[in-house]
Amino acid sequence: MIKKLSISVLIMAMQLSVFCQYPNVNNELDKKIKSFLKGNADSWNDMNIPIADGKILYDIIIKNNYKNALEIGTSTGHSAIWIAWALSKTGGKLTTIEIDKERYLQAKSNFKKAGVEKYIDAKLGDAHEIVPAIEDSFDFVFSDADKYWYKNYFIAMDPKIKDGGCFTAHNTAMKGSGIKEFLDYIEGLKNYKTTIDTSSRSGISVSYKIDGKQ
Ligand SMILES: C[S@@+](CC[C@H](N)C(=O)[O-])C[C@H]1O[C@@H](n2cnc3c(N)ncnc32)[C@H](O)[C@@H]1O
Repeated sequence: MIKKLSISVLIMAMQLSVFCQYPNVNNELDKKIKSFLKGNADSWNDMNIPIADGKILYDIIIKNNYKNALEIGTSTGHSAIWIAWALSKTGGKLTTIEIDKERYLQAKSNFKKAGVEKYIDAKLGDAHEIVPAIEDSFDFVFSDADKYWYKNYFIAMDPKIKDGGCFTAHNTAMKGSGIKEFLDYIEGLKNYKTTIDTSSRSGISVSYKIDGKQ
């Protein structure tokens, strides 16, 4: 009897913690995005970030009122949908890059189903070439493609990141394949303040570009 009760309490607690991860729903678009994310919560199998990490990215964008976002590594679009959800609130837009055609097409279809396609410019191609060639400036970057290239992505993006903007990177709890070189480099820069969000199991580094006039 006590065992049964503890299991029910555990299940309720787990359901509550998942429920709490979603932002408040205030309009029809919120409803559509949340319903898509909830309905597909168990079907992100293409190296996609977990829900909790999506909420971390969402919160950073909302807190800083970021508007111009870049994602490197779309896969099938889970993180992009979270980022676009936040940008639907700030009046912003996301550019996201994926090299794999099948994942890119799946992501485009997911963006439509979630109702966020008008907030996303999805690019198919090699980010090694696209990132240095991008001419816009950005206030939010999420790096989640090939880890050994993170430092190069950052170096290419640095001049295009606005003061007060931030460069975030996924899987920074890993120390291999370029992550350490990237972290050593960015943590050594005086004009960036870097912290690691350890509430993400994979680790998300968040590096804010300090206003040059301060
Ligand atoms: C970890 S997954 C991204 C997951 C995605 N951010 C999400 O959470 O839904 C990494 C993706 O980066 C892509 N990728 C790897 N190297 C790339 C490159 N040079 N240019 C563009 N995309 C690349 C891979 O094909 C893969 O789909």
